[in-house]
Parts: sequence; structure tokens; C-alpha cells
Amino acid sequence: MSGTAPWWRSAVIYQVYIRSFADGNGDGVGDIAGIRSRLPYLKSLGIDAIWINPWYKSPMADHGYDVADYREIDPLFGTLAEAEQLIEEAHRHGIRVIPDIVPNHTSDRHAWFQTALAAGPGSPERERYIFRPGRGPDGAEPPNDWVSCFGGPAWTRLPDGDWYLHLFAPEQPDLNWEHPEVRAEFESVLRFWFSRGVDGFRIDVAHGLVKDPELPDLPPRPEPARLGPLVSRDPAREQPRQHVDHPHWDRDEVHDIYRAWRKVADEFPGDRSFVAEAWADTPERLAAYVRHDGLHTAFNFDFLMASWNAKDLRAVIDDSLAMLGAVGAPATWVLSNHDVVRHPSRYGRGAVKQWVANEPYRPEGPLDLELGTRRARAAALLMLALPGGAYIYQGEELGLPEVEDLPEAVLQDPIWERSGHSDRGRDGCRVPLPWTGHSAPFGFSPEDAAAAPWLPQPASWGKRSAAAQSGDETSMLELYRTALRLRRAHPALGDSSLTWLDAPTGVLTFRREPGFIAAVNLASTPYRLPDHTTVLLASGTVEGGLLAPDEAVWLAV
Ligand code: BGC
Repeated sequence: MSGTAPWWRSAVIYQVYIRSFADGNGDGVGDIAGIRSRLPYLKSLGIDAIWINPWYKSPMADHGYDVADYREIDPLFGTLAEAEQLIEEAHRHGIRVIPDIVPNHTSDRHAWFQTALAAGPGSPERERYIFRPGRGPDGAEPPNDWVSCFGGPAWTRLPDGDWYLHLFAPEQPDLNWEHPEVRAEFESVLRFWFSRGVDGFRIDVAHGLVKDPELPDLPPRPEPARLGPLVSRDPAREQPRQHVDHPHWDRDEVHDIYRAWRKVADEFPGDRSFVAEAWADTPERLAAYVRHDGLHTAFNFDFLMASWNAKDLRAVIDDSLAMLGAVGAPATWVLSNHDVVRHPSRYGRGAVKQWVANEPYRPEGPLDLELGTRRARAAALLMLALPGGAYIYQGEELGLPEVEDLPEAVLQDPIWERSGHSDRGRDGCRVPLPWTGHSAPFGFSPEDAAAAPWLPQPASWGKRSAAAQSGDETSMLELYRTALRLRRAHPALGDSSLTWLDAPTGVLTFRREPGFIAAVNLASTPYRLPDHTTVLLASGTVEGGLLAPDEAVWLAV
């Protein structure tokens, strides 16, 4: 890692899904006090920064992604003073802090939306959002055929006859980014938090802010190979991916907004940075977000969406590094987050159906969790050895699987209701963390907590708790700790480049300078490790110089 490169080019950033990380006040929901109490854990894990999911004042229709006031902390999570303390304490632990900013939509309880409702059709107050009359003789049909990402139409009609757009839940009206007040307000919100010491922002739905002003109907389906893996085992899909002109995703004009945001970040000292949640059709389109005058980094969802297949993964890695490298941006690898099925449960399934971004993906078929976990260990070593930065989703370091059997009565994700109970939504990856002990709440809440955790934890999670794994060299937690320690110390890891080495089909082997090799065996037979190497770290046990299937190793040359 170069000592002079900005921190975000190689940072390992830990995602704190605040509701489910640690509950300080015993109400069953994670909070800022909980995060503060676990800073020593994060320090010992060896991460560089935390990204915290939205903590702003919110009616919680989408667990905080419906913001009513961007300058207030929701009382469920704490106070503004506590947020300031957290930023300060995290910095003392050497950990940077990146909140989430939600610019595509506000809550329907946001003062602007409430004012717009009261002001009525045709009023200037409604221009901050996307209100339109309906189609059809009495305007009873929505203005176009757009669909909500959570299911159902993307439009809701008000009693006064106007319709408003919401790409997510009806409680999340989309803002009109053509309006100068919207632009000015968000720049002011960024300054508000930058001046409180935050080190950057994760930008929610960064690819959705700008809509085609004509609001045309969606392009006809099926779209050509849209957003699937770059190279698929299905030969019919082996074609270069193409950008599809879409009326509300990834429109070119969105970059003007981020050029202005970059200027705001640059007003502040200390390498403040942005990471975009942008789902783009092609690596070139993704790279457009991270040009030198735009954002700093963007999540690499192609990596997350790739199946456990050497060809797919290598294609994703090569294309990402090429496209991002061409604009001088680092890659940021990610395996899991609060919106997707946890990767041990993805990798533990034989059949992989095509994953289309911006659409729900629920793997099917029997689960072999032991296999999925073995692959997850190998995937961690792959991810952390690649050039650039990486994201770790809370609980990934504990090897937590998706909780697939949550009772229907406890499901809270709006997707469950909006899909007419056909999609269970994302609660299965959001179950509160197990910290210690043999029964719920496993240290997530204090012992005398007034309420149970907001989602029930599996009874078996005692063995997965941070305390149970701590000091056990065979545990996922110790694998992550060791990998992060080596990564921090090794001059070959972090930013810079890689060189692929010859390897049998199904094996990924690459070299990084000076003196480092990573090998991942995705084939079904053991792989003989290169000569003149010594094992620095292995995801399993390396015997007789052989790397077993679904295992990975870091080597010193
Ligand atoms: C966030 C989701 C959220 C949605 C709407 C996403 O991309 O990651 O959790 O539901 O944006 O804000």
C-alpha cells in the first residue's frame, strides 16, 4: 500500500446496518450507543472505516431509507450529539466514518412533501417532487408504466387527482433533481455532515436521480443481456453486455450532480470521499461515475452477482480493473450487503439462476451450507487480495448465513407486503448480530433489555457469536482478522495491479508485487501450488502442497 495514496483507494470498509449491529439501550433495535460500545471489536478486526446505513429521522417505512430530516438523528438510534461523539471516538480508534445519504427520494413525512401535499396540484411546492396528472379519460391510469423496485406500480394517486412517482415504496416519493432547490439542499446537507467530521458518504441509488423529462414508458422487454454476469455458462448469453437507454436508471445527466458534490467534498480537508451505489449495465457505464471530477469509488456489484465460477469471476475482475483503471479509479469489491442474500447461502447452492440487477434475486434449490461457507472463506481471501478497496457486511466476518426461515409474522421489509407476499424480502440478511452467550439476544442487547431483538435470531447462533469464534484459529472471524492484518502489513496488497499466472481450468492464480501470490481453486480436483512458495494464510488446510477444491491460499514467493 502506498503511503501517499488517498486512504479510500485501498480501504477495507465495514458496513454497519445500524438496526442489527448492537443495541445499547435495550429496545431491541441497534443504535449509536451500540456502535460506540463495539468500536474496540472493529478496531481488532482491522478495518479502516465504517459505512453506517441511514441514521436520520425517519418513519422507518424502509428502515431509514425514507428520510424525514437529513440533519437529525432518529431517536430510535440516538441523538445528534451521540453521532458526533461516535465520529470522534471512531477517529480516535483510527476508524473513518461514512454515513449513507439518500438523495433519490425523501420520506413522505419530509417537510417538503407535506407542504407539497397541502399546496395542491400545479403548485410550485409540488415541483420539488415528480407529480403528474394520470392518463386515461379521467386520469385514473398512472402517468406511465414504471414499476416500483419493491413491487407494484411506481405511482400513487392522491385524493386531489395528482399522481406522484416513487421508484421504491409509496412512503418514498422521488425528488425532482431538475429543481435547483433540491440540488442546493443536498449540497447543504453534505456540508452539514462534512463539517461534523464524516469522512465520506455512501450514495443510495446513485444511478436513479435523473429521469427522462418525457417520462416515457419502459423500453420493451426482454432487454439484451442486461446486467447479468459478464460471461455466462449459458452460451446463449455469451455476448458483450450492452447499455440500454433507460428512462430512470443511469442517465448521463446524473454525473453533473456528482461533479458538484465532488467540489463540495473537496472544500473539506482530509480526503473526504464518496462511494456510489450505482447499478450500471456495463463496467464502462460504472466507470463513468468515478472519473476524476466525479465520485471517488463505486460498489462493484458485478463481483457480488458473479456465481462461484472461475470464468465468470475472472471476467468480472479483468473488466472491472480495465474499465476503472482507464479512468484512474480503484475497484471496490463487495460480496454481501443489507439488500442481498448472504453469500455463504448463495454459494452453497448448485443451481445459479441469472441475477438481474435492480430486480430481486432469491437463490433456489437445496442449500449445502458447509460448502457455501467453505467457498465464502475462499471468496474472502480472493476479495481481500484483489487490487483496490473492499467492503465487509456486518456478520460476514462471523460467517453468518441468510436466515431463510423467519416466520412470516415477523417479516418487516416493505417488499414482503408490496410483492403480495410472493417475495420474503431482505430481512433474512438483516438479523441482529450474535456477540456472545448461548441464547438470544446473544449479547446484541443488554441483559436486562426491555424488548427482544427486532428480528428473532436462530437458536444455533451461539456458536457463531463473536465471542465463540474469537481465538479459534479455524473460525471465520480469525480468518478475517488475520487476512486484514496481513493485508495492512503486506506491501503488495491494497491499491495497484495484478498479473494472472497460468493455472488449470477452474483455478484463479495471480501475482502481486512484491512477492505475493493468491490462488483460488474453483475446480473439482486439488490444485498443486506453485513451487518455491510458502503459505501465508489458507482458507482451509493445505496438505502436501495441494489446494483442495473451494479453497484459497495466500502465498509468499
Ligand atoms: C438501499 C435499499 C433501499 C433502497 C431505497 C437501496 O439501494 O440499499 O436498502 O431499500 O435503496 O432507498
